[in-house]
Amino acid sequence: MPLKVLVTAQMPEEWFDPLVRVGHDIVLGEGLLDHDGLVGKAREVDAIVSVLTDPIDAAVLESGARGSLRVVGNIAVGYDNIDVVRAAELGIAVCNTPGVLDAATADVTMFLILACTRRASAAEFALRSGAWTGWGLTNFLGSDLEGSTLGLVGYGRIARAVERRANGFSMRVLHHTRHDSGRPGFVADLDQLMSESDVISVHVPLTPETSGLIDARRLRLMRRGGAVVNTARGGIVDEDALVDALESGELASAGLDVFVGEPHVDARLLSAPHLILLPHIGSATWGTRSKMALLACDDVCRVLDGQAPVNPVHATAAQPAR
Ligand code: DGY
Repeated sequence: MPLKVLVTAQMPEEWFDPLVRVGHDIVLGEGLLDHDGLVGKAREVDAIVSVLTDPIDAAVLESGARGSLRVVGNIAVGYDNIDVVRAAELGIAVCNTPGVLDAATADVTMFLILACTRRASAAEFALRSGAWTGWGLTNFLGSDLEGSTLGLVGYGRIARAVERRANGFSMRVLHHTRHDSGRPGFVADLDQLMSESDVISVHVPLTPETSGLIDARRLRLMRRGGAVVNTARGGIVDEDALVDALESGELASAGLDVFVGEPHVDARLLSAPHLILLPHIGSATWGTRSKMALLACDDVCRVLDGQAPVNPVHATAAQPAR
């Protein structure tokens, strides 16, 4: 029997083809549904294919449970937009899309590391604004990646993909996780990782424990002239503390792809020196985003067919490192 699936975001039809192929009825949200819209639609459908900007909170899930909502497939590895505890209580399965976005996100991380250390944003701005007066021996001097230390906060699949890339740049790579990874470069103490690293890159999910993890005190532990990059979630790096460190010169540069309260970007970030800002494009390639969408849709089909999903999110487990 065809079931109804709400696909919240606008996307090419091929990306939700698995749902069409098995004959489900697609309800297109086209990126237009706000919270009230999601609450309203949730009780009319059997499944939701969501994206990270959809607040799938208790109200949405409870509305769905009053109807026949059985599964939410989130087109993202992160699922901090979903109340997974309430979903579990209501018997609604939640799935995510790990694995397929590692390379794309690691590429953007390296891009930000390079842009930070080579002062790309300031140099490009100088050129575009007419302030570049010609080649100069001491103009736009950055720092070398070769021989410098990269500290990975979190050591999931994306962090390991960054490590592989950083090895190619002859960086020394350290990592910190709560549990010993058993791999070379493991540092048990986050403070030690901060103090030994020239560049810190964040790869943990946003949870109550990681919110504000990289705060003013930890930033002060870094070597003067260091850089911080965050492609995970806004709020893991304290934005105010980051701007203070950039303004005081304690930190040479930073690169952010994620923000607290996206798409709003705090005014202090917009005017901070040596800060490169990207609009959450870590996984934004055609290949990667299509794989993410297909993965989410495949799992939604499985659950609607009475099978176990390949990428279930467990409410009790903390979000794994990325
Ligand atoms: C994710 O999957 O969580 C990413 O942030 C999407 O780009």
